[in-house]
Amino acid sequence: MKKVFNIVGARPNFMKIAPIHKRMQATAGLVPVLVHTGQHYDGAMSKVFFEELGLPEPDIYLGVGSGSHGEQTGRLLVELEKVMVADRPDLVVVVGDVNSTMAAAIDAAKLGIPVAHVEAGLRSFDRGMPEEINRIVTDALSDLLFVSEDSGRENLLHEGARADRIHFVGNVMIDSLLGHKARAETSTALARIGLDRKRYALVTLHRPSNVDSSEGLRSILGALARIQREVPIVFPIHPRTRKMIEQYGLGELVASMPDLYLIDPQGYLDFLRLMMDASVVLTDSGGIQEETTVLGVPCVTLRDNTERPVTVTLGTNTLVGMDPERIVSAAFEALNGHCKTGKVPPLWDGHASERIVELITNQV
Ligand code: UD1
Repeated sequence: MKKVFNIVGARPNFMKIAPIHKRMQATAGLVPVLVHTGQHYDGAMSKVFFEELGLPEPDIYLGVGSGSHGEQTGRLLVELEKVMVADRPDLVVVVGDVNSTMAAAIDAAKLGIPVAHVEAGLRSFDRGMPEEINRIVTDALSDLLFVSEDSGRENLLHEGARADRIHFVGNVMIDSLLGHKARAETSTALARIGLDRKRYALVTLHRPSNVDSSEGLRSILGALARIQREVPIVFPIHPRTRKMIEQYGLGELVASMPDLYLIDPQGYLDFLRLMMDASVVLTDSGGIQEETTVLGVPCVTLRDNTERPVTVTLGTNTLVGMDPERIVSAAFEALNGHCKTGKVPPLWDGHASERIVELITNQV
């Protein structure tokens, strides 16, 4: 029997690990252990995802919580090392690019435990993004590199990764999306807010580069003020962004927009419903660029770069940066139907987790 630690910490990890963990539970010879670092701890950022994705309670919960990057990563390193030493897994699986991902990879590599990285090789080439550092470190330490798009393989080879460690498996986040789409259609999220299908814009915003500066956040809110005059906006707000709006005294600006619906962070199914039925999604998230591409919904990304270029070349994604003029005009173009129709990228077919677990079974 091979013991596998599946590590999760923050919201975007849960929908990536869920199909892998479930597949492992049903695979002879593997004993998956679900480890939640507690990087995200609010019910709305964590527990609801476990319930809706059918994940069991974590086997191990570390309660690491928030802090500066150094503090949080330090606590993660200390707590993850303790459980890896005590339980000695045969493999550690990490997903995505959050601080929990990198810390688990560092601990495992130093203890001589093989590491598998799901969503390997993505690069924004912007080291100002904390996630980019996490990606580079995690990939450098991983023994199995599972990539979701071609650019991942190219970037890894360019950085000198061994070709036999790289496996193009597709996108596990899409496994969850396709597996839950039918249930999401029964969500009452739209009715609760009072929105009509395909007659609203959906916004998410949480990147430090967008929300941790007063002028930046003010300017993006200014763009939203113009958009909500044309179409209602629903904005499920991340705790970080809520905090920054208060800190910069932007609450009044937000309150002055009658058609901006600021709501709490949504669960998986409600958010999926909001995405599916939006006329356009404006976001700085990584995963949402991928999900909108598969759903065929136009996505306007409030960043200058993306580590997921296939969403631009094949999908429905357009990068506009933080310039309010570009944000507003891209949103209006999408609302007027002038947008990319997009294609689903190769192997984003709902079966990535099966490929991953098969490769793991053969190699561990
Ligand atoms: C983290 C990830 C980011 C991911 C995002 C999704 C890193 C470096 N960043 O960013 O890649 O896209 O999750 O949400 O790992 N907070 C709460 N409750 C919570 C969690 C956070 O109130 O459950 C607040 C705290 O004030 C905290 C802040 O949000 O300081 C930021 O949380 P943190 O985990 O540091 O990073 P995120 O911005 O969520």
